[in-house]
Amino acid sequence: MAQDVTLATSNTAAAATFGMQPTSHMYMAEYKNGSWHTGQLQDFHKISLSPFALCFHYGQTIFEGMKAFRMKDGRLNIFRPEKHFERINASLSRMQMPELSYELFLNGIREVVQADKDWFEKDSDQALYLRPLVIASEERLGVKVSEEYLFIVMASPAGKYFVNPIKSKVETTYTRAFEGGPGYAKCGGNYGAAFYPAHLARLQGFDQVIWTDGMEHEYIEEAGAMNVMLVVDGTLMTPELSGTILDGITRDSLLTLAAKKGIKTEVRRISITELEKWFKEGKKVEVFGAGTAAVVAPIKSLDIKGNKYSPYMGDDATMFVLKKELNDIKYGLNKDEWGWNYIL
Ligand SMILES: Cc1ncc(COP(=O)(O)O)c(C=O)c1O
Repeated sequence: MAQDVTLATSNTAAAATFGMQPTSHMYMAEYKNGSWHTGQLQDFHKISLSPFALCFHYGQTIFEGMKAFRMKDGRLNIFRPEKHFERINASLSRMQMPELSYELFLNGIREVVQADKDWFEKDSDQALYLRPLVIASEERLGVKVSEEYLFIVMASPAGKYFVNPIKSKVETTYTRAFEGGPGYAKCGGNYGAAFYPAHLARLQGFDQVIWTDGMEHEYIEEAGAMNVMLVVDGTLMTPELSGTILDGITRDSLLTLAAKKGIKTEVRRISITELEKWFKEGKKVEVFGAGTAAVVAPIKSLDIKGNKYSPYMGDDATMFVLKKELNDIKYGLNKDEWGWNYIL
């Protein structure tokens, strides 16, 4: 029987329905004869590809995940498109795929958001999830780098993302990414390889795994589709960008906001030994996932090699303060000091 195995939290209201409903439009551009060609807004439709298309065989597929919001004054806002653009090109480059120009990337997103602006009304969060995708489309069975690609932007209403606190397990058997590998890229293979360990964790009653490094299984990496952040006695901490984790845009935004608010931040390797020590010493430890979907997803229980810990998640937790600050910027209720909002 098919199983609904998701890398996002299995216990969210949104996870059950997320990404099932396309909006009315999509944008598509082709790469052929050594360059990207002008893209076009189209009605949403299924695409036809030969089974020979290289994307089905050797993993040249990369994507982005971002959101547009209807601000309180009614204007539409795409959140941090430049940072998503940098990341999509980092992913493309790692997978030996042709980079996009900012013009093409932004055009695709703008056109879909503008054409589908009525779709914001159907959702209580007034947000659209945007999925830019690049796939290898050359028809060839040999193991080779594709010479043809499709860039597609699609969208889906982002329903109210209510997150029940997560039961999480620190994974010390399986590995998501190794140094020198494509861990920092948003390529399809990173997600496919994570499904099996995530499934095993679910059988043990966990919603989500927290990955550790591939060498020692000692240092915290990230969660399924979120970066991991901690607040330890008032200091916001998160693993450094070692090349094995995604450069999350929520992570970056929360770090920036925390620093602005005078909250101490530490970006460094975080070992599970010290994490256990903090819990045992009775420190106030918040643990949460940070990502575009939920912004902040509190982790209510953490299993580290069979030891159970309960991170702090009271109403006054720092993660909730930061989440509100960030949401207020996206909806235009807070000053956008860093120019994160691209307002249409
Ligand atoms: C593996 C992984 N890590 C972290 C994140 C969080 O990144 P962002 O905040 O840009 O959504 C995501 C979500 O896209 C992800 O898939």
